Amino acid sequence: MTMRALTVRPLMPNSAAVVEVPDPDEADGSILCETIAVGVDGTDNEIVEGKYGEPPAGRQELILGHESLGRVLEAPPGSGFAPGDLVVGVVRRPDPFPCESCAVGEWDMCRNGLYTERGIKGRDGYISERFRIEPEFAVKADPALGRLGVLTEPSSVVAKAWEHVERIGSRARWEPRRALVTGAGPLGLLGALFGMQRALDVHVLDVVATGPKPDLVNKLGATYHEGSVDAAGDGFDVVVECTGVGPLVLHAIEHLAPDGVMCLTGISPAGRTAPTLDVDALNKQMVLNNNVVFGSVNAGLRHYQQGALALSRADRSWLEALVTRWVPLERWPEALERREDDVKTVIEIVAA
Ligand code: BGC
Ligand code: ZN
Repeated sequence: MTMRALTVRPLMPNSAAVVEVPDPDEADGSILCETIAVGVDGTDNEIVEGKYGEPPAGRQELILGHESLGRVLEAPPGSGFAPGDLVVGVVRRPDPFPCESCAVGEWDMCRNGLYTERGIKGRDGYISERFRIEPEFAVKADPALGRLGVLTEPSSVVAKAWEHVERIGSRARWEPRRALVTGAGPLGLLGALFGMQRALDVHVLDVVATGPKPDLVNKLGATYHEGSVDAAGDGFDVVVECTGVGPLVLHAIEHLAPDGVMCLTGISPAGRTAPTLDVDALNKQMVLNNNVVFGSVNAGLRHYQQGALALSRADRSWLEALVTRWVPLERWPEALERREDDVKTVIEIVAA
């Protein structure tokens, strides 16, 4: 059998197309799913623009898509999954070496870079009518969430960021009160959701004054700020940085409270140089305040579970509003467009 899939030749701009490909290889895993929806993000855009990505060994084309949601069609007995379950596939696979982290299942902390990532690096992704997944790399989505379970992968990334903030925070007494999230895109808004679920005083900063973002922040019970970090105030115990804008990253450090921890999750193209900055003063502040600034990428299995739990506890209509466009597979180019009022765009393959 064949199926439709969105493929791309990594590092070749504008090579993406919906084509017929063979059904998923059994080597991809014993669980067969029909694909309900796959979210798209900046990484997918970079791959389509020819700036990132790597095809599976011996091939030129890569099936795109890493934010999956599928419905199980076939699962072996004893796998823990049954036909009808809604599942999300984990993105990363451990490196074959494996490094110390991958050896204990912490592939998100891989130390040698030989990991693979579905839809990104060396493994087919999920934008196809069917996909296969290994039971140990599949996570159940709450059936009550329906197609919104597609938010599980971005939630896993945010769950890891928060978990690591807390693990770092607990190096000493840790009673965070104020959190700042920079950037009100999908990661930033989910980051704010996690902060609210921890009963923190959450502030979200973005550059826009209109569109769905201020509303989404207010509906969460968090406080929206527009413009400079200075507008958001001071004394943040936690900063979750979701813009990747270098000058903003450096500026946000100055707004950390004593003992404050800042997690960097955003990436933006290289090229911006720092504005004139007193780096000695920055160093002094970080030392005198016991500050930590760290980076975080990808997610381990437990973070997917934490992400799924956070989504199942969230307000359904708020999650609905986070996905601003559902685009059918045949109109995939529209899904990669960035429109003014976009928050999250999702390619929908079949109804949930
Ligand atoms: C994905 C991560 C991945 C990262 C780098 C992100 O878009 O969500 O799972 O590790 O890209 O490839
Ligand atoms: Zn590794």
